[in-house]
Amino acid sequence: MEDTRILVTGAAGQLGSLLCIALQQKYGVKNVVRSDIKLVSGKVDILLDVTDVDAIKTVIHNHDINEVYHLAAILSANGEKNPILTWKVNMDGWLNILETSRKSNINKIFYPSSIAVYGNNSPLSETDQFGYQDPSTIYGITKSAGEYWAQYYFEKYGIDIRSLRYPGLISVDSKAGGGTTDYAVEIFDYVKKDGVYECFLSAETRLPMLYMDDAISATIQLMEAPKEAIKIRTSYNLVGMDFTPEELLNEIQKYEPSFSIKYFPDHRQAIADSWPKSINDEHAAADWGWNPYFTIEEMVSEIMQKLNIKKDNAK
Ligand code: NAD
Ligand code: SER
Repeated sequence: MEDTRILVTGAAGQLGSLLCIALQQKYGVKNVVRSDIKLVSGKVDILLDVTDVDAIKTVIHNHDINEVYHLAAILSANGEKNPILTWKVNMDGWLNILETSRKSNINKIFYPSSIAVYGNNSPLSETDQFGYQDPSTIYGITKSAGEYWAQYYFEKYGIDIRSLRYPGLISVDSKAGGGTTDYAVEIFDYVKKDGVYECFLSAETRLPMLYMDDAISATIQLMEAPKEAIKIRTSYNLVGMDFTPEELLNEIQKYEPSFSIKYFPDHRQAIADSWPKSINDEHAAADWGWNPYFTIEEMVSEIMQKLNIKKDNAK
């Protein structure tokens, strides 16, 4: 059996830098080629701009790649600053990967989509797998179109492309990259006695979220599932929890009671308001056994352990 030889694009990002560690543990360090448009020591092996199709071809050929995790993208909030560049990176970049894969030895691809494919006219509560997509950002438009390109290349060319519609991903070991859910990552940088976090969303903004450990487990579980188990070839809804900034604060205050949030909603509020409040991911559970481990309580407990902050028993 040939070795799995993986190319990861966008490897320096919030997800990539941690997913690569898990892939290296699983497939061996030499079998995971970590690429990004910027060289970050310890996170990136080679420079690769996904808008450069010739460079993609060369890397896939020279490194004998047979699987791709295509993470490179510009996220929702940053995308609104430069919609044309976002289309180029997210859409042309994805098509460059698909076309190169079709013409080479690539047999499996992972493509991350997002809850941003849903929007104001979608059902926003317990949003169903097949709920109407109405993306409100250029990021969401690219992810929605990208899902259908994935399905098209699977049906037309037989490439085994698998995809997850991640909600907001929460990590403390890697920083968020310019999205609308970033507050739930940034906040942990400010947690200390009498610390204050200035939140760019309002106190009652509910959004679906997923702790990074669960996101990585889900990604690997999806990619390892038998081919016949993957019944959805656009992208699977996926979620771990949903909460508001105020609910996250209440959980953090069990450890640091004097910690507080000041609310200064900005342009990201409208994006958040257009996104689902909660997600129905029953197809992921039924098809390939998805079952998240982390609730908000377990996530905050784990993060506080990492930050070396103990529970305040008075709370
Ligand atoms: P991130 O912004 O932290 O990382 C993206 C990486 O892509 C960055 O390191 C950036 O340098 C790189 N990049 C940008 N332009 C590039 C180009 N032209 N060529 C090559 N690399 C380029 O994002 P992330 O949070 O790690 O997200 C990874 C993937 O998961 C993205 O596709 C994103 O849409 C998706 N996703 C993330 C979340 C989340 O909450 N983090 C939620 C849903 C979906
Ligand atoms: N967390 C991502 C963002 O806010 C969702 O894809 O852009």
